[in-house]
Amino acid sequence: MSMLNRWLLFVATPFLFLSLLSSNVASAENESCLTCHSSMKGRMKTAAGALINLNIDTDRFQSSVHGILSCTDCHIRFSDDPHASPARAIPAPVASMAQKLSAKYAVDAVAVAACQTCHEEIFKKVVGSVHGKNIFEKNQTDGAFCIDCHGTAHYILKAKDPEAKMSRKHQVETCGKCHGDKKIIEKYNLQENVMESFTESFHGRKLHLGHTKVPVCASCHNAHDILTKTDPNSPVFGKNKITTCNKCHKGANETFVPAITHQKPGPIPYYTEKALIVLLLSTFAFIVIHVLLEAFSDIRDAIFRKRRDE
Ligand code: HEC
Ligand code: HEC
Ligand code: HEC
Ligand code: HEC
Ligand code: HEC
Ligand code: HEC
Ligand code: HEC
Repeated sequence: MSMLNRWLLFVATPFLFLSLLSSNVASAENESCLTCHSSMKGRMKTAAGALINLNIDTDRFQSSVHGILSCTDCHIRFSDDPHASPARAIPAPVASMAQKLSAKYAVDAVAVAACQTCHEEIFKKVVGSVHGKNIFEKNQTDGAFCIDCHGTAHYILKAKDPEAKMSRKHQVETCGKCHGDKKIIEKYNLQENVMESFTESFHGRKLHLGHTKVPVCASCHNAHDILTKTDPNSPVFGKNKITTCNKCHKGANETFVPAITHQKPGPIPYYTEKALIVLLLSTFAFIVIHVLLEAFSDIRDAIFRKRRDE
């Protein structure tokens, strides 16, 4: 071994050792949390009065998108001797968001606010969306935040995975938990037949048959920066609809765009349908009467002919 190589080895070894050590920290620490949380079963009330599920399924956690994370990347407040003192200082932006989220997430609002440490841009979009404003400006708890759409934080899958809550297979059902809920619709005066109109639309029926290119909710409304339709930045505001439909229907214009809305069928199609039914029935009646009259005249002719022949 040359002098230089020996020198390199001498310098590199501690670094190698340190990096091995730190890559093991996450799993060692998770093991300590999971010693309890993978074996504990059932639900219980925490001191704060929230009902929790104590069990974390280790395999499902590890095969989720966050399988390589430490529990305390999100549960910043916790340390493993069962979570008495803070594991480390909570960063100020996380702490301030957590305070605002605590009415909605009673178990560990810090863990929800911690999503921003790795998904900063998305987090900002959601805070500024109609859903985020419901929580941060109106101080309500009904708007959707990360885990309402993506499901339990420990078992999040890539949206491409059919089993993910935001996959094309499950998205309509997940948005529908709230957008099909009478109480929420009434409270916020939301459009009421959004779910039915989607299911009955051409897109919805094709989706049901397994079509892989038709839009689901977020294809037209966006995923994170969802806005009211009266907001000029909404993809379903006025002329923006042209761009939105154009993502898939090249050449869509002002006359094509109204083909899909969530409106109840208006009075014109309603009466058109009724008029068609009346027309159809009267055509049938006309044919039936015509045939009967013809039959009657044939019979009458036959009788007269018979009489004449006698
Ligand atoms: C010695 C067993 C044990 C260990 C180790 C443990 N927990 Fe817990 N954990 C519990 C029990 C029991 C509860 C039930 C509620 C309580 O006592 O706060 C709980 C509740 C929780 C809750 C629900 C919120 C709350 O305030 O109760 C979270 C989140 C949690 N643990 C995360 C963790 C994390 C993260 C780790 C590892 C850093 C960990 N736990 C390690 C036993 C343990
Ligand atoms: C990606 C972030 C994230 C990671 C990583 C994470 N958690 Fe959680 N955890 C959350 C969130 C968010 C909640 C729900 C908080 C709420 O509803 O107030 C939660 C809730 C819990 C609960 C309460 C269960 C319930 O019914 O609400 C326990 C126990 C828990 N976590 C333990 C763990 C353990 C143990 C690990 C590591 C194996 C872990 N968590 C990793 C984000 C995370
Ligand atoms: C209203 C429902 C909804 C909410 C709330 C929501 N998401 Fe999403 N998210 C989606 C949908 C839908 C997709 C899939 C988008 C796609 O297929 O292009 C997605 C995709 C993602 C992705 C991966 C794709 C990407 O754009 O990078 C990440 C990461 C993500 N969300 C994180 C978050 C975080 C963090 C929060 C909370 C701050 C959050 N989401 C809140 C619906 C939501
Ligand atoms: C310590 C960093 C970290 C934290 C904290 C974190 N994530 Fe992630 N998240 C990641 C990484 C890294 C990936 C990408 C994994 C991959 O590509 O395989 C990811 C992926 C995702 C995806 C994948 C979507 C897709 O379709 O690809 C979603 C959704 C998501 N995170 C939501 C959340 C939510 C919700 C929280 C808070 C409860 C959170 N994340 C907290 C690092 C983090
Ligand atoms: C946890 C419940 C919940 C989930 C899940 C949810 N939403 Fe919402 N959404 C709401 C509430 C509540 C409002 C009204 C907020 C307000 O007005 O303060 C709203 C408002 C909206 C609006 C604006 C409506 C209006 O009239 O202003 C749109 C568009 C919307 N959501 C689309 C979606 C889509 C798309 C999804 C799924 C990707 C989704 N939402 C998932 C609760 C939810
Ligand atoms: C093909 C595009 C498209 C799809 C897919 C779609 N929407 Fe819409 N959505 C619209 C348009 C356009 C509007 C504007 C109002 C109208 O014309 O009826 C709208 C309006 C809404 C509104 C009322 C917004 C407001 O501000 O009053 C809600 C809530 C909503 N959609 C939710 C959903 C949900 C939930 C899904 C999935 C089940 C969905 N949308 C699927 C195009 C779509
Ligand atoms: C994510 C892609 C996507 C978006 C966005 C989208 N569509 Fe479609 N749409 C499709 C697909 C795919 C079909 C089915 C084509 C087929 O199987 O013939 C379809 C079919 C239709 C049909 C019936 C068949 C036809 O071509 O006339 C109408 C009408 C329609 N879409 C209207 C709209 C309107 C209006 C918008 C915007 C508000 C819109 N679509 C947005 C993908 C999309």
